[in-house]
Amino acid sequence: FNVPKAVNEPVKSYAPGSPEREAVAATYKQMWNSQIEVPLYIGNEEIKTGDTKKMSAPHDHQHVVGVYHQADQKLIQKTIDTALEARKKWAALSWENRAAIFLKAAELLAGPYRAKINAATMIAQSKTIHQAEIDSACELIDFLRYNVEFMTQIYADQPKSDSSMWNRVEYRPLEGFVYAITPFNFTAISGNLPSSAALMGNVVIWKPAATQVYSANVIMQVFKEAGLPDGVINMVMGDSGMVTETLLASPDFAGVHFTGSTGVFNDIWAKIGTNISKYKTYPRIVGETGGKDFIIAHPSANPFQVATGISRGAFEFQGQKCSAASRVYVPQSLWPTVKSQLEADLASMKMGSPEDMSNFITAVISESSFDKLARYIDQAKQDADAEVIIGGKYDKSKGYFIEPTVILTTNPKYTTMETELFGPVVTVYVYEDAKWTETLQLVDSTSEYALTGAVFSQDRYAIEEATVALQNAAGNFYINDKPTGAVVGMQPFGGARGSGTNDKAGSAQNLLRWASVRTIKETF
Ligand code: ALA
Repeated sequence: FNVPKAVNEPVKSYAPGSPEREAVAATYKQMWNSQIEVPLYIGNEEIKTGDTKKMSAPHDHQHVVGVYHQADQKLIQKTIDTALEARKKWAALSWENRAAIFLKAAELLAGPYRAKINAATMIAQSKTIHQAEIDSACELIDFLRYNVEFMTQIYADQPKSDSSMWNRVEYRPLEGFVYAITPFNFTAISGNLPSSAALMGNVVIWKPAATQVYSANVIMQVFKEAGLPDGVINMVMGDSGMVTETLLASPDFAGVHFTGSTGVFNDIWAKIGTNISKYKTYPRIVGETGGKDFIIAHPSANPFQVATGISRGAFEFQGQKCSAASRVYVPQSLWPTVKSQLEADLASMKMGSPEDMSNFITAVISESSFDKLARYIDQAKQDADAEVIIGGKYDKSKGYFIEPTVILTTNPKYTTMETELFGPVVTVYVYEDAKWTETLQLVDSTSEYALTGAVFSQDRYAIEEATVALQNAAGNFYINDKPTGAVVGMQPFGGARGSGTNDKAGSAQNLLRWASVRTIKETF
């Protein structure tokens, strides 16, 4: 297969005075001062129903940047019909033509749309420029490029034949439509879930999270400009329950590509079960859900490296990553050094609006998220077995700001050691150095999730012991590094247990889920 070799998009620095910084600042300003209306994208139509919801900036919640239109059930039904109509030609289109569209989308994001996708992510998802660049520019570009390479790896996998018999397999699209449900916290994931299924020849109905519609709209514009035919990816917003009920009730529902909470994924799975006899084909269910990601330090670890792992792993991206470190196990002997380094690191993290590009941390996504985090912080201030040792302040008067917060607990099963909070709060449990092996068991048994985790140690025997003891506790396991920041093409990403179906994002294995294989045997 002759396709351009995938390369990871280099992360730009946005240093003061750099052209990229000036471009994104100007675009941010221009977008901040305009109001947009995001329509429903159904086939060749951009539909404005008049049933609208406001989009605002989490760091300045009174500032509205536009509205998006919502579909009713009839329009969702129409979307199914439109997608199935588009499928007739799309499923038959050669893979080269499908690939070219998404390769072009990657180049549009790398060039002319870079400032726009970054500014949109900064405004409505409240990411700093560096967070936006890593996510909405580089990671999304990487997904688009690598998926083409993964697709050709899949197509190249063919069975044996001999002189009298030719065996071949065809990687056909699923028979029906794919439903993509995407989260607010990663613009890259939002773009990847619909486009990866579409690249494999499927038609997609895509529902972005309400708080991410603003940047999803830019992605949709990029796909269109790249030449994606009408109806291949349709973007709809509306009451989540209604949209999901309607799509999952269709006999043509062929798969769901989901990233979001465990609770919602469980509901989807249950609804699919209820409808199972209606479907033409058993649907593919692919989901990446929550995490309660750990860092465990061995007494041999470098305490400064551990502190950096915690401060970067827990607080970058406001802790709003499914992969963010949120429970930490430190041996007594290292804790004083780790703690003082952590205090220094957190004191240097400036918090504020993404418009000021020197800020390291910004607001959390919504009032409900803010309120939840504030509740857990207040509870920790009261509980006898917990103490807020760093941060702990919050303020929602202008934006949803939560200070980077460290809770110290004497109870390894304390609520915030078990419950996913999805924000800039980490809980630390200090264990006796002699209890390393018992603590590994504790790490494995404390959480229902198994997404990411990290071990810090300079002792190869301890690293080996942790790697074995925690083999089911994390789908992405890091040795002497923070448990976040998986890069497409380098660390395929995903976890099992309560964290999802572990169909690694950024892998051929994931793309294969969007193909239905036909085996052809021909004899001569
Ligand atoms: N892929 C993202 C990370 O690894 C979620 O942090």
